[in-house]
Amino acid sequence: MTRVTFIDKADPASPAALLVFVAEGGQLTAGAQAVETATGGQLGRAMKAANFTGKKGKLMELLAPAGLAATRVLAAGIGEAARADARLFEDLGGEAAARLQTLEPELVADFGALSGLAVGTDVAAAHFAHGLVLRNWRLDTYRTRLKDEQKPKLTGVTLAGAPAPAADLTERLQKVADGVAFAKELITEPGNIIYPQSFVERVRAKVEPLGVKVTVLDEQELAKLGAGSMLGVAQGSAKPPRLLAMEWNGTGNTDAAPLALVGKGVTFDTGGISLKPGPGMEDMKWDMGGAGVVAGAMVALAGRKARARVVGVCGLVENMPDGNAQRPGDIVTSLSGQTIEVLNTDAEGRLVLNDCFTWTQTNYRPRVMIDFATLTGAIIISLAHHYAGVFTNSDDLWGKLDAAGKAVNDLVWRQPLSEPGGHYDQLIESTIADMKNLGPREGGSITAAQFLQRFVDEGVEWAHIDIAGAVWRPKAAPLHDKGATGFGVRLVDRLVADHFEG
Ligand code: BES
Ligand code: MN
Ligand code: ZN
Repeated sequence: MTRVTFIDKADPASPAALLVFVAEGGQLTAGAQAVETATGGQLGRAMKAANFTGKKGKLMELLAPAGLAATRVLAAGIGEAARADARLFEDLGGEAAARLQTLEPELVADFGALSGLAVGTDVAAAHFAHGLVLRNWRLDTYRTRLKDEQKPKLTGVTLAGAPAPAADLTERLQKVADGVAFAKELITEPGNIIYPQSFVERVRAKVEPLGVKVTVLDEQELAKLGAGSMLGVAQGSAKPPRLLAMEWNGTGNTDAAPLALVGKGVTFDTGGISLKPGPGMEDMKWDMGGAGVVAGAMVALAGRKARARVVGVCGLVENMPDGNAQRPGDIVTSLSGQTIEVLNTDAEGRLVLNDCFTWTQTNYRPRVMIDFATLTGAIIISLAHHYAGVFTNSDDLWGKLDAAGKAVNDLVWRQPLSEPGGHYDQLIESTIADMKNLGPREGGSITAAQFLQRFVDEGVEWAHIDIAGAVWRPKAAPLHDKGATGFGVRLVDRLVADHFEG
């Protein structure tokens, strides 16, 4: 984890990289003015040459400046100072990390005499560091032949001149970043490394030391309960399934109704007998992204000792085709007692999740239940990788998710959902069982959500978040490289902080 340090004042004799801020129109902040003076006007000349005017989110680099010990100066544009908020500083921290990751061991960011921002400089500094920490993540486990210049070097950021109260906030944000990093790690690891048992082991080692209570159900226990829907998916794999439950209680009240988080954890999705096409199938290692988010969120919440009761439940299976795999047309009986005609073995996420819903509701009686799942390719057609789709039976919960998402840039967009028996719900009626696991091609994300809704108990506020697009992105953004995004961890953290603590 990247180190974050506060100091009173940037040291001009420090041979680190130095970052200063410039406002719209090329207006130098006090730190930037100090660089301008020390370098005899080099910063201003470089800004002119680079056409850098302090536009928000932009960075400009000045190498080996004369008159300064710094190896380089990064000028960071904040746009109109009065509108520069926490999110902007996160993005700048992220951009700085992307640039320096393989170049510099340390960045000193000068917040001295920065004023007139939309947030206090302590908050700005904490979020700048947060963005930098979030972006400064890589999984290098399998790269044994990295050249020196390709190796990560950035180990810390020093925030100069920001007032002290930020230290508290920094600590909190560090725990959240730790949760995001853990989710990305689980999601990035391939299917031969992360499978149901190894997922459980890695998560257990991470969350138990944080005070999270872990419960695991194996195949025999699931069979005894009657979780036939989830087990049908697992039966084609040599890797046995697991149900993993994590409980964090920071309320001191053992019977507080918890917030339940449920994650789809298909550690690899071949489609089963309804086999997926070969090209691109490797992406299906991300099909445990929902479970990754839930585990990451538990790390964040327990790490920062959230004053809330939260349970995270992951349905872990591998969807494989073999001689024992389930067949299209098979009928399974779910833990809820409802029967399902499995018309397509590749629509397996809903088969895993419904048993997890029933188990969670029976054992924890949650007031609110939110599931994260890479459920449908159709949601990528609808929303691309930018937003996750939210299906919910509660306008109130939607409002809370929307606001939390905007605050942390884990963006969500509401999608339609019919009442039980309504238009979209009728599309999954089966002629031989209580329902089928497949709707028409059109509206594929909606019928998947309708299927899940049939397993939500009366009175439970529920939201299903389809993260098939948001779990990984083909292009880098300020807070993540291309690949796993960690989407959802910060969303949950914010939602809990705003509505489930106190
Ligand atoms: N894991 C996939 C959904 C998915 C697709 C996630 C692409 C990320 C990228 C899911 O299990 C699946 O296969 N869904 C099918 C459902 C269909 C058979 C009704 C799909 O989306 O095609
Ligand atoms: Mn599938
Ligand atoms: Zn899947």
